[in-house]
Amino acid sequence: MNTRWDGTIRRVDTYLETGRLVLRRFTAGDAELLVELDSDADVMRYLTGEPTPRAEIEQKVLPEILAQYGTHPGLGTFAAHEKSSGRFVGWFGLQPTGEAGTVDVGYRLDRSAWGQGYATEGTRALIDLAFRELGMAKVVADTMAVNTKSRRVMVKAGLRFVRVFHVHFDDPLPGTEYGEVEYAIDRETWEAGARA
Ligand SMILES: CC(C)(COP(=O)(O)OP(=O)(O)OC[C@H]1O[C@@H](n2cnc3c(N)ncnc32)[C@H](O)[C@@H]1OP(=O)(O)O)[C@@H](O)C(=O)NCCC(=O)NCCS
Repeated sequence: MNTRWDGTIRRVDTYLETGRLVLRRFTAGDAELLVELDSDADVMRYLTGEPTPRAEIEQKVLPEILAQYGTHPGLGTFAAHEKSSGRFVGWFGLQPTGEAGTVDVGYRLDRSAWGQGYATEGTRALIDLAFRELGMAKVVADTMAVNTKSRRVMVKAGLRFVRVFHVHFDDPLPGTEYGEVEYAIDRETWEAGARA
């Protein structure tokens, strides 16, 4: 992926910075980044199992991401760029749940960005932001039980295993029979960790 963050992104579009990443709001011109990210079978393996069609990204995925910045200020899906090179590495998100004071953290990184600790770095920063700036009481995350890499990210970011649960899918992905897993961290635990 060659779209770069070169420091020209307006401050107002920057959501969060970590040591090595900058997270910014997506814009209407970003469809190509999402098409490319979702075109990799390894990236989509535990999500839909197949590339996301360009039309779906242009007509549904990206418009919904943009609309959410208005409907849920402070939350949403944010493009992540590697500061050192400016390249787009994927996205991170904080989504509302049905529960007041609880948000769901998620991430999807390009394969070229795996194995460098970026997912953990971004997730930790989002958890900190959710408690420190957004006043949340709890942060949760879920994934397929067989998505080992994602589960490791959750643990390394401070989330703790809560439960396995089962969801019915008409066209289940391989591994669905092992269920989905939920991880969570509450404010008290986060504060204890922040003090340690
Ligand atoms: C899930 C996903 C984000 C995990 O990415 P990842 O690169 O494995 O996770 P991290 O960014 O935390 O990197 C971890 C590895 O980087 C290595 N690493 C290298 N440099 C590092 C550094 N400076 N700091 C920390 N870790 C570093 C570590 O050794 C670590 O491996 P380990 O946990 O086996 O010890 C990635 O596989 C992905 O995007 N998958 C597709 C989408 C998906 O499934 N999303 C989740 C759906 S719920």
